[in-house]
Amino acid sequence: MTAPGRFIAFEGGEGAGKSTQARLLAEALRARGLTVIVTREPGGTPGAEAIRTLLLSPPGEAWPPQAEALLFAAARADHVAHLIRPALARGDWVICDRFVDSSRAYQGGAGGLGDDAITALHAFGSKGLRPDRVILLEGDETALADRLATRGQAADAIEGRPVEYHRAVAAAFRALAEADPQGFARIDALGAPEDVHARILAALGDLLP
Ligand code: TMP
Repeated sequence: MTAPGRFIAFEGGEGAGKSTQARLLAEALRARGLTVIVTREPGGTPGAEAIRTLLLSPPGEAWPPQAEALLFAAARADHVAHLIRPALARGDWVICDRFVDSSRAYQGGAGGLGDDAITALHAFGSKGLRPDRVILLEGDETALADRLATRGQAADAIEGRPVEYHRAVAAAFRALAEADPQGFARIDALGAPEDVHARILAALGDLLP
């Protein structure tokens, strides 16, 4: 019998090292003989990647908050239906760089739409799919901002929002993790990538075969 596929989401603010850690985790799981898919949101399928461009480089005026939340939910619905659920059904592991808790923290929390609205969109769009574990990468916000600044990329429409917005995102993530200590592993994102990676592996110990 195939072991069940597992769904791991990485969450956190900008510059926390999610993509690096997603890659390191995938390598570690593959070394254990698991089939692993690494994907991201918004994006992961051609349809969702097209919506990503609309979200991060709005063609006209900025999206109204409700439209922004709907576009994230639409991208996620395509990603879940066409990539994540089929992979899990095959028994693969799926590692996703951001998932619905980003919508809860950014649009629901910092954006002011509230958690009920985002949860309702997710129930409709993606039948409420939840990760088996959310890895929340947390760090001192000033240090993370410095790390981001050294990346040298131009900020997109969301990353470029004021520092208060990003503080509210971090506070919302913290509140989500506190409300669901089983579902979230809070990981200190500061320090060498291999040290952070070791913390993540330890936090997934109960899910590993
Ligand atoms: P990325 O920089 O991690 O690729 O994510 C793109 C931006 O989109 C980032 O600023 C976070 C934001 N975002 C939301 O606001 N809501 C969401 O649901 C997701 C998945 C991302």
